[in-house]
Amino acid sequence: MKAIILLGAPGAGKGTIAEGLKAVSALIHVSTGDMLREAVKKGSPLGVQADGYMKRGELVPDDLIIRLVETRLAGGGREAAYLFDGFPRTMEQARLLDDCLSRLGGQVDKVFLLDAPRDLLIARLAGRRLCRKCGTNYHVVNIPPRREGICDACGGELYQRPDDGEATVLNRLEVYVRQTEALISYYEKKGVLLRVDSSRPRQQVVAEVLRMAGALAGA
Ligand code: AP5
Repeated sequence: MKAIILLGAPGAGKGTIAEGLKAVSALIHVSTGDMLREAVKKGSPLGVQADGYMKRGELVPDDLIIRLVETRLAGGGREAAYLFDGFPRTMEQARLLDDCLSRLGGQVDKVFLLDAPRDLLIARLAGRRLCRKCGTNYHVVNIPPRREGICDACGGELYQRPDDGEATVLNRLEVYVRQTEALISYYEKKGVLLRVDSSRPRQQVVAEVLRMAGALAGA
């Protein structure tokens, strides 16, 4: 079992780069943010528990996240190759991922740290729009749809994520510094961290990550 991790602050471009990598590989995309939003939408017990944390821009408790990811990995098998986006986010999650992968004969292969200045992160989150139907990601300035408010891919309505309001974004950025940044040195010490300047245009960032990733599953 293989694992690639996309690490970075809210708005660094984890979801955007994941889409680029998925398009050219057979990596299995595991976005804990997407899984949680789906649970909230369905009103499942996990969604009900996670909703308040997400609205405030706080992290959802580790035990809930770990259960969610373990369930997802259980179906994969030893040959699976995963692309984690937004996970792990705490030291406890990182250690648990290591344990889980080693039980399945795997390890973390590469961690891409997507790095962009804070003012750019804020501008990206303020301008982000998503399609209600297919989830395609846009930005009102950087990656605008052809018709305002309408998805190019499926014609669905575009909306703003409830946690992309200004106060919540500022809290999410603080939470990243407080609870997630420690993972940078954790993976640096393991020799698997690769830094990527994600302030550049999307195609350039995707191309650089692909070059650094080397041979990807199914590519
Ligand atoms: P999550 O969904 O993971 O959100 P996040 O980490 O805050 O990251 P974002 O999705 O906001 O940003 P991104 O880096 O993916 O940027 P994107 O590519 O969209 O988590 C949400 C919440 O769920 C958390 O706050 C927490 O409550 C909970 N949660 C999730 N995982 C958890 C975990 N493991 N533990 C505990 N709680 C958890 O890009 C942003 C915008 O910029 C887009 O509009 C995009 O089009 C644009 N853009 C991106 N890259 C470029 C580029 N290179 N050029 C131009 N525009 C770009």
